Amino acid sequence: MAYDADLNFNFVYRTKIVFGAGSLREAPIEVAALGGTRVLLVTDPGVVKLGLAKRVEAALGQGSGGMHVGTYADVPSDSSIDTVERGAALGREMKADAVVSVGGGSVIDTAKGIAICLGTGHRLVEHEGCNTLSKRLTPHVVIPTTAGTGSEVSYAAVVKDAEKHRKILFVDWFIIPDTAILDPELTVGLPPKLTAATGMDALTHAVESLHSLQREPIADALALHAIRLIKEYLPQAVENGKDLHVRGQMLIAANIAGCAFSNAQVGLVHAMAHTAGARFGIHHGHANSIFLPHVIRYNGDACADRYRLAAEAMGVDTRAMNDDAAVEAAARACAELAARCGLSARLRDVGVAESAITAELAEATTYDGSIVYNPKFVGESASLIPVYKAAW
Ligand SMILES: [Fe+2]
Repeated sequence: MAYDADLNFNFVYRTKIVFGAGSLREAPIEVAALGGTRVLLVTDPGVVKLGLAKRVEAALGQGSGGMHVGTYADVPSDSSIDTVERGAALGREMKADAVVSVGGGSVIDTAKGIAICLGTGHRLVEHEGCNTLSKRLTPHVVIPTTAGTGSEVSYAAVVKDAEKHRKILFVDWFIIPDTAILDPELTVGLPPKLTAATGMDALTHAVESLHSLQREPIADALALHAIRLIKEYLPQAVENGKDLHVRGQMLIAANIAGCAFSNAQVGLVHAMAHTAGARFGIHHGHANSIFLPHVIRYNGDACADRYRLAAEAMGVDTRAMNDDAAVEAAARACAELAARCGLSARLRDVGVAESAITAELAEATTYDGSIVYNPKFVGESASLIPVYKAAW
């Protein structure tokens, strides 16, 4: 756990957390506490189909005396600038002064974009990049329906620019949601495969926070507890999704892992998952799960002490192990957890051809911003080809 004597860092956990089965009923209290009176609900067709949007609309109340003034349910799994702008237009039309998002990462990121548009009166693209905002935005309460992204506490949002075929990133402390309502009743409908993939995304956030060049003690504490919870509860959540206790523990794990990486940042696993995931259409969490053990081995000689911590948090006794063995134990523990949760381990299993692993793919990986925080400096992009090959 050693740090340099000149350790210095900032740490922000701005989001109020409301946890408990049935806690979605507290949505109107939380909106009112933030000064909101007219709520635009942002969600997606899947959440509507499960009946969850209706439950939140009912909790907010409709008609006279109610808070709910409109629902924007047209968020696809891969949101875009247009998606955000249409939602913001509906919000303006309904004179919404607060946003409640109910869904996974794409819904939450869309709602962050809508809060930017409603709060500033600007078009979304005017706020692309880092720290373009100077004041708090329209109040935003998040109710996650997956346990993985940590988007409910993060200061980033990503949407695609369909015209220019690229993703655009918004990074700003002012887009961190004000309140997250973690209600396990809303995650019981998540299918096993998505439960596994989103859970492995959360595990990757925790491990990458631990090994990040921007690691610090508070993020470490959150990341280590997240790893313990995920090791214990993710297989149970995959096996019996109806167990509210288990679902609740995974929501907490994803939340604190999200806060850890919002502060400490992620690294090469995410750089590879972003690059290969977009190119080959692999679910973000599943892509992380495939790359995590191989990146641990690649980084091992740069931060074996960090992976020893991760292995210990996963229940491995590393006291008699040298550094190499402890690194390998961490890699194996991550791979075994993914296998227990039914996730395939190789790129070939998700339809990637070996010939797709090219120098150009490795080069593109080095352009992803996450790589900046990786503990091992990736100088030559060619050094990533063996990592991709090992994952194939
Ligand atoms: Fe992630």
